[in-house]
Amino acid sequence: MRAYDTIVTKRDLRHTSERPVTDDDLAPLLQAARMAGSAKNDEANRLVVCRSREVRTALAAAGDFTSWIDTVPVVIAFAAPDDKLRLFDVGRQAQNLMLAAHELGMATCPVTFQHHDRSAAAVDAPAGWTVPMAVTVGWPAADAPASPLQRRRVELGELVHEDRFPQPDEPPVTRAE
Ligand SMILES: Cc1cc2nc3c(=O)[nH]c(=O)nc-3n(C[C@H](O)[C@H](O)[C@H](O)COP(=O)(O)O)c2cc1C
Repeated sequence: MRAYDTIVTKRDLRHTSERPVTDDDLAPLLQAARMAGSAKNDEANRLVVCRSREVRTALAAAGDFTSWIDTVPVVIAFAAPDDKLRLFDVGRQAQNLMLAAHELGMATCPVTFQHHDRSAAAVDAPAGWTVPMAVTVGWPAADAPASPLQRRRVELGELVHEDRFPQPDEPPVTRAE
């Protein structure tokens, strides 16, 4: 798949099959995350590959919209020391990982942990570290329903402004996709 096609067809998939995710399956995903740049080249983030039922269940209780994540075979938690926690860096690693997975036909979804005490405890993070996000990884279920959250994105003309935000009396801008 062309990189552009991989990017624009990626959807967040929550329903996975029984097919196990092997170390070989994960290797290119982890390498893709590793190659993301980081602010000040700190490379401060660490990834925790969570496979055990116990840890996935603990992580499922660490977010307000994560109750389903223990049904997915692998949850990759992103951790960072508090003084270097930059969500932009986490996002770049997560998106690299998810796009590499999508190109290989795997299903991924990012999730948020609102309860940082629980997410840190779930993976035994060192004191002073935060685990704000994770990405679920599996092979897509054959009979997965379309995501109820799956939706069209805002129009490009609404997403993108030129130089400044438009004034209330300016007509909406149309941009080709
Ligand atoms: C930063 C971020 C946090 C998210 N957190 C959650 C979450 O906690 N639980 C969940 O089920 N989905 C979560 N999602 C997935 C979004 O719901 C999803 O990206 C959105 O609905 C678009 O889905 P689609 O790509 O299938 O259209 C998160 C997405 C992002 C980008």
